Amino acid sequence: MIPNSNLRRALGRLLLLSSILALPLRAEEVNGSWTMDQPRDAGPILHTVIELHQHGENVEGSVMPNIAAELPIREARVDDEDIVFRVDWGWRFRVHLDGLNLHVAVSYDQGKSEQEYTARPSIPADTQLPAQVAPPALRDLPSNGLALTPPMGWNSWNHFAEGVDDTVVRETADAMVSTGMAAAGYAYINIDDTWELDRGPDGRIRSNRKFPDMKALAAYVHAKGLKIGIYSSPGPVTCGGYAGSYGHEEDDAKTYAEWGIDYLKYDWCSAGRLYTNDQLRRVYQRMGEALARSGRPIVFSLCEYGMVDVWTWGPKVGGNLWRTSGDISDSWKSMENIGFKQGALAPYAGPGHWNDPDMLEVGNGGMTPTEYRTHFSLWCMLAAPLIAGNDLRTMSDDTREILTNREVIAVDQDPLGREATRVYARELVEVWVKPLKAGGCAVAVFNRGRMDAVAAFPWSEVGRRETPASVRDLWRHADLTPSATGFSARVPSHGVILLAVR
Ligand code: GLA
Repeated sequence: MIPNSNLRRALGRLLLLSSILALPLRAEEVNGSWTMDQPRDAGPILHTVIELHQHGENVEGSVMPNIAAELPIREARVDDEDIVFRVDWGWRFRVHLDGLNLHVAVSYDQGKSEQEYTARPSIPADTQLPAQVAPPALRDLPSNGLALTPPMGWNSWNHFAEGVDDTVVRETADAMVSTGMAAAGYAYINIDDTWELDRGPDGRIRSNRKFPDMKALAAYVHAKGLKIGIYSSPGPVTCGGYAGSYGHEEDDAKTYAEWGIDYLKYDWCSAGRLYTNDQLRRVYQRMGEALARSGRPIVFSLCEYGMVDVWTWGPKVGGNLWRTSGDISDSWKSMENIGFKQGALAPYAGPGHWNDPDMLEVGNGGMTPTEYRTHFSLWCMLAAPLIAGNDLRTMSDDTREILTNREVIAVDQDPLGREATRVYARELVEVWVKPLKAGGCAVAVFNRGRMDAVAAFPWSEVGRRETPASVRDLWRHADLTPSATGFSARVPSHGVILLAVR
């Protein structure tokens, strides 16, 4: 409910009066809809709408960052004159009435400092959604023949978020080559959200001032022997509140092809406010069709966080990979929560179509080198896309050695394209096995516990009837002497031993 402006003015006067008379403030006055206008360096102003309904100690409502999503208010409490609450995406709010406006302090779980804003009473335009354009009739699209092994590259989001620009992309392409990443197989330089500005009179999307010339940028990346990727949403705005492809799917596919784009990450975001989950597949199909007609081979990466069992239909909309989870963050807990839950999806991965447990955090600083080796090993066992998410220009030797370990990458890129499954878990030690094209398998022994552990198992546990002829440790680059009784080794806390067993 949005109180009209007279009422709000009256409330404001009452507020003034109450402060003069030193009466206690009544937090109920915050009820209504408030818009925070957040100007940004590039791209449009972000309008975040906060809906509040308070009755005594009980506060309900939602936060709409632009119209990208409607995030329900959680854990709300009244703290003196403030109302304190959180919403998904890791945001924490503290709000109170300030004259005719709402004073808002926002902070993020991810460690960014608190920022303060003034929110004004909302007007209807702040929350208006466009009319729904019906998605196409369901059909199965043929495969585009791309990504026969899991895509390898880099994406700007995990490290740079809104800080990505033309310079970062060019310097990353340089670093991709100079660090040996390109030689190890990494090919795609992917620009994530925050490059978009608006649409020109011809309906074509325009990049904001961080990216003055996309076509020239693509040419630069191509001249390095690399490929370039971009990001959009089937909704009117992206998750970051930038322009999405809604109603312009054909235009955008054409524009990407003209620019020389090789990869599209297509992120559900505000589409969730226009379409039901029943329509989700057809909405992705629409962009799959547009890409197929664009005249350029473009890898199609579906990002809808694993909703509606995307793995069962992803290839049928032309998808080459699909996210299987919410967003990863740079912590052991986040990586562990996503990575070790993936085993059941193994049957759905194969050449041309891959489960995507989200981009790598290796080298971003929130985990130890041991934990990053586990993260990288697990993603390789899962035949996951290897999309680095760190700053390649300044990475440490440790990080570079992890990301460019060719023996480990070969497990990910094995042409058989099978994903590992967990063959046993004892306490917090888990063994995962991935069949390899040349026969034999990769075996990963993970210790998820807080203490070092001894892992010991007979070869039969990993599907071998006999003692293997060769066992190679892929992190130590050493051949081991296979013992007839099986495998046994100490695995450090949060660590891994990765073997090729033949
Ligand atoms: C979503 C995606 C992320 C990233 C951001 C950008 O959260 O899951 O990977 O693309 O949007 O806004």
